[in-house]
Amino acid sequence: MERFILTVNMTLNLTSDELLMTTRAVRKRLDLTRPVEKKVIEECIEIALQAPSGSNAQRWHFVVVTDAKLKDEIGKLYRKGAKEYFSSGTGKSTSSDDPRYRAIARMRDSALYLVEHIHEVPVMVIPCYAGRSDGLSSAEQAGIWYSIVPAAWSFALAARSRGLGTAITTFHLAFEKDAAQLLKIPYEKIMQTALIPLAYTKGIKFKPALRNPSSSAIHWNHW
Ligand SMILES: Cc1cc2nc3c(=O)[nH]c(=O)nc-3n(C[C@H](O)[C@H](O)[C@H](O)COP(=O)(O)O)c2cc1C
Repeated sequence: MERFILTVNMTLNLTSDELLMTTRAVRKRLDLTRPVEKKVIEECIEIALQAPSGSNAQRWHFVVVTDAKLKDEIGKLYRKGAKEYFSSGTGKSTSSDDPRYRAIARMRDSALYLVEHIHEVPVMVIPCYAGRSDGLSSAEQAGIWYSIVPAAWSFALAARSRGLGTAITTFHLAFEKDAAQLLKIPYEKIMQTALIPLAYTKGIKFKPALRNPSSSAIHWNHW
């Protein structure tokens, strides 16, 4: 088997814990003016493909969109999806008494910025799964999603370690069929799972996020 060699020497030399704790959803700090080299995108995908998948089936595909006209069209679908999401109330902030209020308001503001600028990102990456999850049991769904999400997240980590930012987004999926048509993805067989904007970041320092304490998520032996 041909050995994969990292050819682009531009890693930030983050420790693995730093990488895991500072890979944020980057929106306002995406550098929309700096092109991303094809080689870097390929490297990140190469690394992503080291992820696990059910039965090692590797039913993953990455559609990389760099064409300005296509990005414009996909951007329109993203905006339509975002509009539906925000008007449905799902994206509404909590009350201003809630301690999470400021963080949620900031996230919303950042998400709205990306909605405005999504078509300007140098690269859109759409991780796809060869199969569809529609109507499947939760066990079957788990088999599918855990066979693509680790790879997509590895892609984001590989990008971050090279000074690039990403955000896992799903707004455009409300119009997945339209996106499939635009990108010539065979919708019946191939499921789009996200849209990941990819760009160099403005600055390279990112902080760990404030999260709920692990005690609220850990259940020892029983729920
Ligand atoms: C399943 C999923 C869907 C998401 N969809 C969107 C989206 O459509 N648009 C967007 O701007 N961010 C989206 N996000 C990003 C989240 O808002 C982000 O991961 C979260 O706020 C945590 O950000 P942080 O890690 O930078 O703290 C999505 C994240 C996930 C995991």
